[in-house]
Amino acid sequence: MTSGPVDGAYLAAGLRRLLPQGVAVVASAGEIDDGPLFAVEASAVREACAARRAEFATGRALARRAMGDLGHPPAPVPVGRGREPVWPVGLAGSISHSAGWFVAAVAERRGCWALGIDVESCARLSADALAALRRFVLSAEERRSIGTDRWAALEIFSAKEAAFKALSPYAEHSFSLGAFRAVARTPGQLALRLTRPLGGRLPAGTAVPVRLHRGCGIVLAAAFLSRPPRTGDRPEGRDDAWH
Ligand SMILES: CC(C)(COP(=O)(O)OP(=O)(O)OC[C@H]1O[C@@H](n2cnc3c(N)ncnc32)[C@H](O)[C@@H]1OP(=O)(O)O)[C@@H](O)C(=O)NCCC(=O)NCCS
Repeated sequence: MTSGPVDGAYLAAGLRRLLPQGVAVVASAGEIDDGPLFAVEASAVREACAARRAEFATGRALARRAMGDLGHPPAPVPVGRGREPVWPVGLAGSISHSAGWFVAAVAERRGCWALGIDVESCARLSADALAALRRFVLSAEERRSIGTDRWAALEIFSAKEAAFKALSPYAEHSFSLGAFRAVARTPGQLALRLTRPLGGRLPAGTAVPVRLHRGCGIVLAAAFLSRPPRTGDRPEGRDDAWH
């Protein structure tokens, strides 16, 4: 199964450009089957429907291919308490799937503190979904700034999803996409800030730079922090560039 003109090579190339060299990126336009899941993974989706099991298995297969690209043997990636993938010691990574597209990125932990990726379909974004996303994920200020631009709305949503995945392993309590505020937007990137503290290592104001790709009906987003944020860090771009 493929999804329009977007194939795995397009997805991987688009995402690779958003991440530092050394991060392994793999993608697929359609499910793949690299053999059985590890038992600890299979148990996480035992009760799920066949489509969800196939989606989950494709994400794990891509994750293992990415690990292989970094020279690591196949290893389980269990599911954490917040549904997050739990990466083998020494590795960080992220998985996303949407509209039959699947992407995974994996990095050596020594050069990567936090990593989150996201893929979204603009072509398949219904009017209702767009309205919900604008209402529940975008702030009033973000809505005002982008007007009726649906690509821009999807980019902010996708950026917040990528940032959520990147920071969630370090959050000391549950949070939502509403914890992020876009403060600067330049072509291909969006600077987010935390509106509230998520724990000792994530004070309010923490800057999360997100890089974006748009084209062929898709948005790709990647949040990458090589080290823990320091107080006073500024996101890429100036805060006042938003206005
Ligand atoms: C975590 C979240 C970003 C995942 O979004 P999604 O719609 O399932 O989208 P994606 O396909 O891009 O990502 C799914 C993958 O994210 C990863 N993931 C799930 N929860 C995660 C978390 N807490 N941290 C990091 N990664 C996570 C998983 O690998 C998952 O795939 P898998 O279950 O097959 O392994 C989503 O649940 C979310 O937005 N949570 C925040 C709550 C919120 O504010 N929701 C408002 C939405 S309107």
